[in-house]
Amino acid sequence: SLLSRTPQPQLLTSGAPLPQPFAVPLPVPALAKPSSPGHYDLVEQAAEVEILPGLRTPIWGYGGQFPGPTIEARSGETTVVRLSNGLTQPTVLHLHGGHTPPESDGYPTDLVQPGARRDYTFPLRQRAATLWYHDHRMDYTGPQVWRGLAGFFLVRDPAEEALGLPAGERDIPLMICDRSFAEDGSMPYPGLPGKPGVREAYMGGVLGDVILVNGAPWPQLRVARARYRLRLLNASNARTYELALSSGGPMVRIASDGGLLAAPIAAKQVRLAPAERAEVIVDFGAYRIGDQIELRNLAGEGPQAKVMRFVVDRDEADDSTIPRVLSEVARLDPSKAAVTRDFDFNSGTMHGGGGWLINGNPFDPKRIEARPKLGDIEIWRLTSDVAHPVHLHLAQFQVLSVNGERPAGPPEWKDTVELRDAQTVEIITRFTGYRGRYVVHCHNLEHEDMAMMATFEVV
Ligand code: C2O
Ligand code: CU
Repeated sequence: SLLSRTPQPQLLTSGAPLPQPFAVPLPVPALAKPSSPGHYDLVEQAAEVEILPGLRTPIWGYGGQFPGPTIEARSGETTVVRLSNGLTQPTVLHLHGGHTPPESDGYPTDLVQPGARRDYTFPLRQRAATLWYHDHRMDYTGPQVWRGLAGFFLVRDPAEEALGLPAGERDIPLMICDRSFAEDGSMPYPGLPGKPGVREAYMGGVLGDVILVNGAPWPQLRVARARYRLRLLNASNARTYELALSSGGPMVRIASDGGLLAAPIAAKQVRLAPAERAEVIVDFGAYRIGDQIELRNLAGEGPQAKVMRFVVDRDEADDSTIPRVLSEVARLDPSKAAVTRDFDFNSGTMHGGGGWLINGNPFDPKRIEARPKLGDIEIWRLTSDVAHPVHLHLAQFQVLSVNGERPAGPPEWKDTVELRDAQTVEIITRFTGYRGRYVVHCHNLEHEDMAMMATFEVV
């Protein structure tokens, strides 16, 4: 069958002793401090951090931290990130979900060399949303993100702040990713480019056996009997999560990759493919003091079925609300589309070995796969062999159909959509703001590094 011929993600087994789940408190990444209003300095550094109790883990981090510091920015206000590369390898910064001019979008060959620095300018003419920044170097995104190069970038706006959603300490970003650890505490990455054979073994993707939230293994958070806004990000290289509460209770979904939904949707499960985000509100006021509620991963087994735990330990006043109307999400009209384009995500042969291709081609910066016109609405028909989380730079989109069926519910803005095995997903988008070169790619980072990426140029 198709599946048996196609490489599947490989689970790495840790050699280090692993902690009991829920023994470690949840860290919340520090907020980045601006060097002047709207300006942030991010220095990429090698560092050692304690992830597993008693062991030192070498990482590459923005500011030497994993996750990197959280940047809080405002819609419509230009934010400049000055990236300094203090590492031994070239890097590229990409703001995932950003509506960004091409020279600041982190094209995969636009390298910042060791010792060099570069300003990335983000005008942020876009709505409030949970974005993230991460490395995007051609052929090396998998290993460089695995080592720790990822952080949150939150865009806020007044309309969202006026809603009365949980805020402050009850608005918590949760970066979920999997890693595995050698006996000495290091996080070796197996599929390095240039190591023949090793890379091919991990062509399907790299899965770790430890689930980290904000860089801590299976952590625990003490919460009040109140509503919390949880910004869920799947920052894993290749793992997809199906998140659910052990209580069976609801999580109220309020936002997707592209910000607020039209209206809240109570959900028992939230599925997140690599790079997808979902914001949910959990009302711990519905529980009793002493209750322990696990966030589980129904798509995982054994330890990988656990994510983190909440312990309700106090009463506190709560004046937050979940309004019935959250935002306006106008449906893009398919009859206005200038063109429908096909993008086939499929494995194939490149340079005599296996590779991941789009429309039969491996990524080549010299090749332009599509030239949408500025201002045009387009429909992109995406097809898959095996599962691929597809991410489009620059333009947020809406899902028009999955295997010919229109999705239930009102439209939502996305920047990453999961194609499951042998699926056809049609998305509709409008190219606004900037002309220039951008990429569309699979966000399984091993697939991306093995060339499942294509350039489009807005003309
Ligand atoms: Cu999250 Cu092109 O990347
Ligand atoms: Cu893929």
